[in-house]
Amino acid sequence: MVIVMDSEATPDHIDHIVDVVTTAGGTAYVTRGVSRTIIGLVGDVQQFETLDLRALPGVSDVLRVSVPYKLVSRENHDSRTVVRVGGVPIGGDHMTLIAGPCAVETPEQTLAAARMARAAGAALLRGGAYKPRTSPYAFQGLGEAGLRILADVRAETGLPIVTEVVDPADVELVASYADMLQIGTRNMQNFALLQAAGEAGRPVMLKRGMSATIEEWLMAAEYIAQRGNLDIVLCERGIRTFEKATRNTLDLSAVPVAQELSHLPVIVDPSHSGGKRDLVLPLSRAAIAVGADGIIVDVHPEPEKALCDGPQALVSTDLDQLADAVRTLPA
Ligand code: E4P
Ligand code: PEP
Repeated sequence: MVIVMDSEATPDHIDHIVDVVTTAGGTAYVTRGVSRTIIGLVGDVQQFETLDLRALPGVSDVLRVSVPYKLVSRENHDSRTVVRVGGVPIGGDHMTLIAGPCAVETPEQTLAAARMARAAGAALLRGGAYKPRTSPYAFQGLGEAGLRILADVRAETGLPIVTEVVDPADVELVASYADMLQIGTRNMQNFALLQAAGEAGRPVMLKRGMSATIEEWLMAAEYIAQRGNLDIVLCERGIRTFEKATRNTLDLSAVPVAQELSHLPVIVDPSHSGGKRDLVLPLSRAAIAVGADGIIVDVHPEPEKALCDGPQALVSTDLDQLADAVRTLPA
């Protein structure tokens, strides 16, 4: 059972709940988030039911959930969550296109990619300033200089920014530039990072770990939610299988499954799953057909010169076709 406190709840209200639960023989785990406090209860649920916890001062909701991911579960949530990123909705009836360079390389390259994205109707700009690379010798991103470029490009194009954070120590810095934090596949179970992102006061896009089950993915989202941040977007980006023809195997079934299990929006990254430019359009069409809430793609003005993931980056003509699919295919 989980108690969600309202934003006006005082420390006395919280202490009182802990007392009530403890007296009833249970244990209360209090997590104070930026905008709300969450109290997880462990013990005899039937005994808790008799306490009328909902009526106690400061309580916003009491959730009895049969799954381990209590806050992100569809249980107790009649409506699906719509996450707003710099005013742009993800979820509900919207199909949100997010596009931009895999990595921020130069101001010119980032602005050119952002203009391509905006011309195609993308509502958000993606771009990594901190790149998680397999090889320590590969381009690792520009760091804060990359964040500054993103902020300048946002000012120029009006596109809010989605950018990855890879280290808990950088969360505050990245959040001071970003409109949405991205947690990548390699960090899906970096619990300290998830918790720090949950406290950063920014929406979070959580990519599925390349070897994670859907339940593990939702439990990772729960770490963010438990810190008081329910503005989470799940992103299916392909999983590791025996198949070598694609970079990863896009698990399209994860979209409706995650939407059935969770109230969070689910988007798809056809670039990192297929790993090849020619696969991005068909995989995007498939993602839209299966009900994804959005698509996130890599674009680059000169993919052959890209410092990261050039073979999967779209050029303007591909992006226009993708934008057509996003506009015309029934969601
Ligand atoms: C890109 O966004 C990732 O950093 C990239 O896919 C990492 O892959 P690699 O380092 O194995 O090339
Ligand atoms: C990315 O989108 O930049 C990225 C690194 O993707 P993933 O974590 O899915 O590999």
